[in-house]
Amino acid sequence: MDLQLLKKQLLQDLKNVSSAQDLQDLKVKYLGKKGEITLLSKNLGKLTQKERPKAGKSINELRVLFEIKSGSLLSKIEKNEIEESLEKDSIDISLPVNNLQNGSLHPITRTIDKICEFFSSRGYLIEDGPEIESEYYNFDALNIPKDHPARDMHDTFYVDVETLLRTHTSPVQIRAINKRSVPLKVICPGKVYRSDADQTHTPMFHQVEGLLIDEKVNFGNLKQELTDFLNFFFKKNLEVRFRPSYFPFTEPSAEVDIMDKKGWLEIMGCGMVHPNVLKEAGVDPNKYSGFAFGLGIERMAKLDYEMDDMRLLFENDVRLISQS
Ligand code: DAH
Repeated sequence: MDLQLLKKQLLQDLKNVSSAQDLQDLKVKYLGKKGEITLLSKNLGKLTQKERPKAGKSINELRVLFEIKSGSLLSKIEKNEIEESLEKDSIDISLPVNNLQNGSLHPITRTIDKICEFFSSRGYLIEDGPEIESEYYNFDALNIPKDHPARDMHDTFYVDVETLLRTHTSPVQIRAINKRSVPLKVICPGKVYRSDADQTHTPMFHQVEGLLIDEKVNFGNLKQELTDFLNFFFKKNLEVRFRPSYFPFTEPSAEVDIMDKKGWLEIMGCGMVHPNVLKEAGVDPNKYSGFAFGLGIERMAKLDYEMDDMRLLFENDVRLISQS
């Protein structure tokens, strides 16, 4: 082929190149084993002695031309490819992201923690007891014998004749005395169960029990401790009232009321531990005395979070439980 023509064709081919692959194909077309430039070189031998140097020089120039042009073309193509992929794969870090949903503590847990924080700071130990409880610990040991009318008030779920779901946290009082020795200061949070369901009652709810036994403990100590606690919990100086009441396991017994926006509100039961309870737990009532109290966690949470309906606490709506 005519060298001038070949050069023209080569330049045209280079113009049409748009990818590294095109360039590779061209390299084969011109410089491959059977490439056009290669063939020209091979045919040099057929030329006369005189024609050969000039033709050889021109073929070489064509090869160099191809290499220079294709080299610069390749770097241009590679640069474009990098830019293209940067554009395509780029991450727009200014885009808003969906926040990860963090877990949070349930208001009931927070309320238990807050109550325990106060009593722990006063040296109370946190004690635990079983939710499936014997009749003995739930009733008998707490001065509530079989025929006692207080048993009816508890709407008990029985597991079998002498086993039940504990109806209050008071049985942990006895377990704690049995496990440790007196003097003693314990606080016992946990779940309790009663066969009762309406706007203000759920079959499962939470209570915290408190018990202090020592020598010469009196009702004044109880009043002071619970008043301090309520002021700590509600973060203000509340009006607190101790109203005479009745519980089989305390004598005297009282109900604690606080002054709320709507008037007096019953908040917990308390009293001096009944001598029968101390005796049953192996404590000498002539040497030791004590006070006990029990409060409902849901009611405390409802007041603390200013909720209208206690049942919200059981629905596990994340909008509620993710609030701190
Ligand atoms: N156990 C009682 C209840 O569930 C609450 C209670 C009242 C606990 C007086 C006490 C107490 O320790 O002294 O209704």
